[in-house]
Amino acid sequence: MSHVMDTYARQPVAFVRGEGVWLWDEAGKKYLDALAGIAVNTLGYAHPKLRKALTERIDSGVLHTSNLWRIPDQEKAADRIAEITGLDEVFFCNSGLEANEAAIKVARKYGHERGVAEPAIIVMEKAFHGRSLATLSATGSRKVQAGFEPLVSGFVRVPLNDLDAVRQVAERNKNVVAVFIEPIQGEGGINVSRLEYLRGLKEICERKEWLFMSDEVQCGLGRTGKWFVYQHAGFLPDVVPLAKGLASGVPVGACVVGGRARGVFKPGNHGSTFGGNPLAMTAVVATIDTIREEGLLANASRVGEVIRSGLKAVDGLSDVRGMGLMIGAELGAPCGEIVRQALEAGLVINVTADNVIRLLPPLVMNEAEGRMVVERLAPLVRAFLARSPEPTAAAR
Ligand SMILES: Cc1ncc(COP(=O)(O)O)c(C=O)c1O
Repeated sequence: MSHVMDTYARQPVAFVRGEGVWLWDEAGKKYLDALAGIAVNTLGYAHPKLRKALTERIDSGVLHTSNLWRIPDQEKAADRIAEITGLDEVFFCNSGLEANEAAIKVARKYGHERGVAEPAIIVMEKAFHGRSLATLSATGSRKVQAGFEPLVSGFVRVPLNDLDAVRQVAERNKNVVAVFIEPIQGEGGINVSRLEYLRGLKEICERKEWLFMSDEVQCGLGRTGKWFVYQHAGFLPDVVPLAKGLASGVPVGACVVGGRARGVFKPGNHGSTFGGNPLAMTAVVATIDTIREEGLLANASRVGEVIRSGLKAVDGLSDVRGMGLMIGAELGAPCGEIVRQALEAGLVINVTADNVIRLLPPLVMNEAEGRMVVERLAPLVRAFLARSPEPTAAAR
């Protein structure tokens, strides 16, 4: 019996070696990775630049010093993040939920500074923000929340892509100080915000002096073909939580602020023992520099298009969504079994929201490998659809 706490439904496979977009299991079987450890392994596996930077870091003997002292690599990483986000200040932590927890605290403090004693944050149905008490309360999934009540208060929920719902809340709730949105919902099923909707939301935030907080933990860092989804919409948010792909596999999180949120946190307002340590910061700098040097944003658009158009050509597969290398293919019925079938076919994928195949490949995947993803996945989807045809639009 394993002593690992039983909180995940795991597949019976262990990956023990990786190179590029390829993984090998304990028996030496080779797999094409179209998931990147759930959007984490930006540079794939054993990338020479990341390897060199981390090896030098380890050889220096200094993996951690604490935030009691200056950390030059943290300063460097914050400069890089400020450049790519267009924002001003970075708080480093170790995970997505921590980045979001910091964002929620920033919003509350911003509210208190404006004289709002009980600040509220607008959040979206089907969003996923993490599993701490505040972030699961912000999450739009009863499955994530059930059993952990009482929830943290101060969240008002609206449907995604519905500007009128936000306007109505704006009318009647004077406590709102921020909108918190995952502009492409990952866990919720690759639900894409319309760019017009994001711009409309930003306009409301400007008018009401609310913070616009864009949870780009999963969709950010180049995956959609630009560094961040808000850049497709053409404006700057006030708060951007990051994690996952930011350090290509080394645990890290960051809460990036600018605009109205700049200067809200002051000394003593927040902290993290591990946050921003030299090991993680080395990986952040190497990841961002390599994305730039290797043109991985344009690559994500190109290869994403190859995969999406390949999947759209599968007869009966009507709904293929996403941007760049964040791709969802919705089937008409729960399709979790496809994960195991894909593993058998040497392909690593995921299913989320019960019936959405989710692909989040490393950004280093090339077009030939993208075509290979489609070649391995398409027959499984066809077989699935033959067993359980998609319901017609009317039956849905
Ligand atoms: C959009 C989003 N926010 C937050 C999180 C939580 O990140 P973590 O699991 O690192 O706490 C996730 C994780 O899937 C996520 O997708």
